Amino acid sequence: MMRAVAIDEFGGIEKMKPRQMPVPEVDPDEILVRVDTAGVGVWDPFEREGGFAKEFGVESTFPHVLGADGAGTVEEVGDKVRDLKRGDRVYGINLMNPKGGFYAEYTAMKADNAAKVPRALSTRDAGVLAVDGITALNGLDKTLQLKAGESILILGASGGIGHLAVQLAKRMKARVLAVASGQDGVEFVKSLGADKVIDGHREDILKAAREFAPEGLDAALLTAGGNAAEQAIEALRKGGRAAYPNGVEDPPKPREGVKVTSYNGEPDPQTFAKLNELIDGGPFQVHIAQTFKLEDAAQAQRALENHYLGKLALVLN
Ligand SMILES: NC(=O)c1ccc[n+]([C@@H]2O[C@H](COP(=O)([O-])OP(=O)(O)OC[C@H]3O[C@@H](n4cnc5c(N)ncnc54)[C@H](OP(=O)(O)O)[C@@H]3O)[C@@H](O)[C@H]2O)c1
Repeated sequence: MMRAVAIDEFGGIEKMKPRQMPVPEVDPDEILVRVDTAGVGVWDPFEREGGFAKEFGVESTFPHVLGADGAGTVEEVGDKVRDLKRGDRVYGINLMNPKGGFYAEYTAMKADNAAKVPRALSTRDAGVLAVDGITALNGLDKTLQLKAGESILILGASGGIGHLAVQLAKRMKARVLAVASGQDGVEFVKSLGADKVIDGHREDILKAAREFAPEGLDAALLTAGGNAAEQAIEALRKGGRAAYPNGVEDPPKPREGVKVTSYNGEPDPQTFAKLNELIDGGPFQVHIAQTFKLEDAAQAQRALENHYLGKLALVLN
């Protein structure tokens, strides 16, 4: 048996209950992970309320263990798994898995949705990396096709995706204008190597972008919506590109002369390999603002409403 936080039906935070559950069994293409850290993502309430179940059209099984993001150690591997073995430190994406997510001592997940933890990172930090890291990289690489020497604005640069995207874009040799949240966000993102950082709640984004790239920006990665995103798009050059992950509230509107694309952070072994290679190219910060015990998962989801830098996490030991 194991400790887990699960729901018996979709709904509010009050549905989340710590409980004992059987350790899940592995299928041939799966690994059993002893969870060290579970990321608490801004999308977790959407999972709890049944949003993903509806969106993906999946038949839900209860009790449903929450948590799409996490890291730990491989305890067991299925017969068909070749690239991972018992004892490997792994991180991965485990969204709407009928066998349960990362809010538990153990999870059985598809091996293809996991990868070895980059050498430069602790297992704890890797616990909040998978969803936002893959989403940051898919945005910069597959969607925006960012090239060395190009200018990019990253909106929400002190948030989960944003703080990873700033470092990945610098590693891809782009010039980065980072739009962070609050003075603490600005100081934090400066330490990540952005070329210029402003506070998007207090400073004029369009003016800062025009100073940074007088001919217009080549690209923008938008992890927040609303007026700030509209200003970022206005600062693009003709033929410039903007991308935002599905889920961003008040998403930007299409605009003539620029390409605005929405996308998802879908995992596959090639994207994990590229993410690990970029991360291992030098010092890399994955920032956990606050940790909570597994049993306090409801409190952690409440804390998603607050201002914080980077990510929140549950620690299992
Ligand atoms: N489709 C996918 O595959 C996928 C995957 C991951 C995430 N997502 C979505 O992508 C979005 C971002 O995810 P995330 O994990 O990065 O969330 P997050 O940590 O909440 O990041 C968003 C950041 O934007 C900041 N922000 C908001 N308005 C701003 C402004 N005007 N200027 C500067 N910063 C501003 C927020 O700070 P304050 O709160 O302090 O303002 C927050 O730090 C979410 O909507 C999430 O659901 C989608």
